Amino acid sequence: MTTRAPGFPDGFLWGGATAANQVEGGFDEGGKGPSIQDVMARGLSGPPTIAPTPDNLKHVASDFYHRYVEDIALFAEMGFTVYRFSIAWSRIFPRGDEEQPNEEGLAFYDRVLDELEKHGIEPLVTISHYETPLHLAQTYDGWISRELIGFYERYARVLFERYGNRVRYWLTFNEINSLLHAPLMSGGILTPRERLTDQDLYQAMHHELVASAAATRIAREMTPQAEIGCMILAMPTYPLSPSPDDALAVMTADHTNLVFGDVHTRGRYPGYFLRTLRERGIELDITDEDRDILTNTVDFVSFSYYMSVCETADADKRVVGAGNIMGGVHNPTLEASEWGWQIDPVGLRIALNQFWDRWQKPLFVVENGIGARDELVETNGVLTVEDDYRISYLNDHLVQVGEAVADGVEVMGYTAWGCIDIVSASTAQMSKRYGLIYVDRNDDGTGTLDRYRKKSFGWYADVIRTNGASLTS
Ligand code: BG6
Repeated sequence: MTTRAPGFPDGFLWGGATAANQVEGGFDEGGKGPSIQDVMARGLSGPPTIAPTPDNLKHVASDFYHRYVEDIALFAEMGFTVYRFSIAWSRIFPRGDEEQPNEEGLAFYDRVLDELEKHGIEPLVTISHYETPLHLAQTYDGWISRELIGFYERYARVLFERYGNRVRYWLTFNEINSLLHAPLMSGGILTPRERLTDQDLYQAMHHELVASAAATRIAREMTPQAEIGCMILAMPTYPLSPSPDDALAVMTADHTNLVFGDVHTRGRYPGYFLRTLRERGIELDITDEDRDILTNTVDFVSFSYYMSVCETADADKRVVGAGNIMGGVHNPTLEASEWGWQIDPVGLRIALNQFWDRWQKPLFVVENGIGARDELVETNGVLTVEDDYRISYLNDHLVQVGEAVADGVEVMGYTAWGCIDIVSASTAQMSKRYGLIYVDRNDDGTGTLDRYRKKSFGWYADVIRTNGASLTS
């Protein structure tokens, strides 16, 4: 094994990432209203309930709501220079359509920012991460309704007003392209997928894109030093065979994801997308004002990366397997995680190059990691997790980030997903762990919630301290 420095630039931001609904808990404290996550006790693996149910692990989650001081101190111990977290929309606007925000909710994030400042950690804030207020889902069917744009604008305005002088980096919607695959989680749309028309789904997509661009415009007016990014679920797609038909199938699949970045960086819909709409008989309600708002393009593009997939035009071979929200056709050359997500570090370099070549905007890897079952063991009298599999996954992906930097790609930073164990978004399990910090909580809700440093904790601290020079390839 040779050690070499992949050459991360000075000032590269190193850290971790979480989402409010998966880490905070305190689901009904401090005046918070319910969000769609409070009725999604099974995540994506079961239907929502009418009202919150007591088996929902997200109601306590990792208890960051009460333990953020300890947790941020642990992040600082690892040397984080950035922490990506989301603001729970329903802490700020409990129903989502009120005129006035909830002061207690705002004060909570003041305290979180205080702690980050104390440790010199740069905040990276996701405005909306799969936590649409439940009232907006139940009353408006989420982003199908144009009214959501106004509610989101008001919410964004309140955040920029309150935190604009403390937060430089903002993301508008988590994995905005996932809307087409997970309409409830991503778009607060309660109409079940089988009854949801393409017309409504694509209209919801348009509303989110307009809201995202509107937030960018508002930030520029209110807090000019802010840098606004979009956030895309990256899923590099390879042809299953060398046939041109498979290559074309890849291009079409890619388009369904890339359109979101294209609009965010170019300020208008691309021709291939307009063709899709025409061919499906979808007529979007796009006003002149919408078109104008969409020209407010982002400063940078962020994305999550966990895996790649294959695509084929051959219907018999088009067997879609497990994966991050959209899944895809199994790649026979790759290994997979315990949850069937195929492991492909090189795909991260490919995604970084593809996005850079296409959009020429600085890129930020804001999610990456492996969900695995961890076992707490005693080593030299200390409780820890010997998670060499996680170290290996993160190391190999970071080496590819270094390769992309060497390719000339501008990469702003990297935040490891679920840097502290959190509840899984897709399966709602605690046992699907991503963290460098172990949280003592089980799938049945038992556990002390105590925190333990995993082996990967010390490993990541070294990576950060050496600015990537300790990575091995
Ligand atoms: C991304 C989401 O899709 O993947 C996160 O932005 C999520 O919220 C992450 O947790 C990992 O997925 P999962 O389903 O393993 O939690």
